[in-house]
Amino acid sequence: MKAAEFIAPAVAEYAAAHTTPPDALLAELAEETRRLMGDRSTMQIAPEQGTLLTLLVQISGARLAVEVGTFTGYSSICIARGLPADGRLIACDVSEEWTDVARRYWAKAGLGDRVELRLGPAADTLRAIPPDEHVDFAFIDADKAGYPVYYEEVLTRLRPGGLIAVDNTLQHGAITDPAAGGNVPVMREFNDLVARDDRVTSVLLPVADGLTLVRKNATGPR
Ligand SMILES: C[S@@+](CC[C@H](N)C(=O)[O-])C[C@H]1O[C@@H](n2cnc3c(N)ncnc32)[C@H](O)[C@@H]1O
Repeated sequence: MKAAEFIAPAVAEYAAAHTTPPDALLAELAEETRRLMGDRSTMQIAPEQGTLLTLLVQISGARLAVEVGTFTGYSSICIARGLPADGRLIACDVSEEWTDVARRYWAKAGLGDRVELRLGPAADTLRAIPPDEHVDFAFIDADKAGYPVYYEEVLTRLRPGGLIAVDNTLQHGAITDPAAGGNVPVMREFNDLVARDDRVTSVLLPVADGLTLVRKNATGPR
C-alpha cells in the first residue's frame, strides 16, 4: 500500500523518510508479494504502518495478539516482532495459497513458534477463542463487511486497557464522499459505530489508508 493519498505527496514522502524503514526481510517479502500477486499486492500494509504496529505492540506490553487478515504475512511479522519471546500471535485468514508465503517468511524471520495460523472464516476463528478477556492486541485488516463482527468478537476477548488497530478506515480519502460506493458506506457505518461506542477510547489516524486505534476502557464509559 502507498503512503496516505490524502496528504500532499511531498509531505507523505517526507514523513515516510523520517520513519524507521523496513529491514531486509520485510523489503524482500514486499518485493516477492509484488512479483507473485501483482495488483493484489496493494492489500499489504504500508511500511510506516508496519513500523507503527511493532511500536504499538512493544509499548503496550502485549503477550497475546490476534490478527484478522494475514495475506502474505507483512503485518503479522511486524506484530510478532513486537511481542516478547514467549508471546503469541493468532493469525486468521481464509487463503492457504497466500498464507503459504507468510509461513515461509515467519520461518525465515525466526517467528515460526510465535505465530499460529488459523485458516477459516475469521468470525468462526474468533468465536472459538474463549471470551475471557485475555487478548492484549488485535489488528483488523480483512473483508470490510466483516469489520463490525470482528470488532465485537475481538472486543469481547480483549483485556481492559488492550488495543485494537483497524486498517483502511479512510478508504483512500473517499470516506467523506456521499456518492462513493464499494466499501465506503460499510466503512462509514463502522467508523460511526466505533465513535459512538462508550466502552472504548479511539482515534482515527490519517496514516496510510487510515488506521483507527481503539483502547478498551478499564471500567464503564470514559
Ligand atoms: C488486506 S489483506 C491483509 C493484508 C495483511 N494484513 C498484510 O499486511 O499483508 C486481507 C486478507 O483478509 C483475508 N480474508 C478475507 N476474508 C476473510 C475472512 N472472512 N476471514 C479471514 N480472512 C479473510 C484475505 O484472504 C486476505 O489475505
